[in-house]
Amino acid sequence: MQIPRVVSNMMAGGFASFASEKRTNAGRAVVRNWSAVVPNANESESRNSWALGVMGLTYFKRYRMEITLAGTLRTATVPSAYSLEPWDSALLEAHADAKYRSFCFEIDATVFPCLGERDGCRRLMDEISRRETFVPQATWLLTHHSPDTGMAESCGTIQGICDRQGVGAIQNLGVTPVHRGLGLGTQLLFQALLGFRKAGLRRAYLEVTAQNTGAVRLYERLGFRRVKTVYKAAEVAYV
Ligand SMILES: CC(C)(COP(=O)(O)OP(=O)(O)OC[C@H]1O[C@@H](n2cnc3c(N)ncnc32)[C@H](O)[C@@H]1OP(=O)(O)O)[C@@H](O)C(=O)NCCC(=O)NCCS
Repeated sequence: MQIPRVVSNMMAGGFASFASEKRTNAGRAVVRNWSAVVPNANESESRNSWALGVMGLTYFKRYRMEITLAGTLRTATVPSAYSLEPWDSALLEAHADAKYRSFCFEIDATVFPCLGERDGCRRLMDEISRRETFVPQATWLLTHHSPDTGMAESCGTIQGICDRQGVGAIQNLGVTPVHRGLGLGTQLLFQALLGFRKAGLRRAYLEVTAQNTGAVRLYERLGFRRVKTVYKAAEVAYV
């Protein structure tokens, strides 16, 4: 049985290379290069594993990144076709939809499988918004209003909670693929940071998967600093 070998190799030999990562229709990462996962696997073991499509535990490196809320914080501004909506429980479904469409084909849907499923995103939004530590002021929905059809489409989300130490914790910043690269993720973050400060918090943090280099760069550019490295275990399908 290969799974214990996978686990022990992952622990001893570091972490899987996702250079050969491909995605299924469901948006889950599938590691096709078995040798990248089990460096010592012999040929027949590899073939058997390939045929069986086993699940194995992989450890994903994540950074905790923090920012102070002291000093001047930027106010969010979005282009005219977009609007930022403050939290309202009637928007739960729209947040869940934006979250699902932002994350379903991304690495974080492998690290946190609920992000790769509509129902999972709905449950997650519901769970976040019911917490006593939920910070509605740091929770925003981004909506796009089509100039052609007038249709409104939720296209970004960010949520905030407050941890036991009184530090703001950003949850699941996401912008749907066609709206990326326009500065909208940055604006959602500005809005959440202002919200934390309005709620009386002095610092905020988030966790980001190290492979998500674009997001790490975005957070560093906004002044977040890496303060800790953590590892999150997740089941990955090896086919
Ligand atoms: C990370 C994310 C929110 C950025 O949203 P955005 O609206 O594109 O952000 P901005 O336009 O303000 O900033 C763009 C920066 O984000 C980076 N980025 C990360 N992933 C990106 C993507 N898939 N497409 C475009 N830009 C991306 C870009 O590299 C750019 O940084 P750069 O200018 O240094 O290259 C968005 O890409 C996303 O939802 N990704 C999937 C979900 C995710 O991983 N969220 C982060 C969880 S910690």
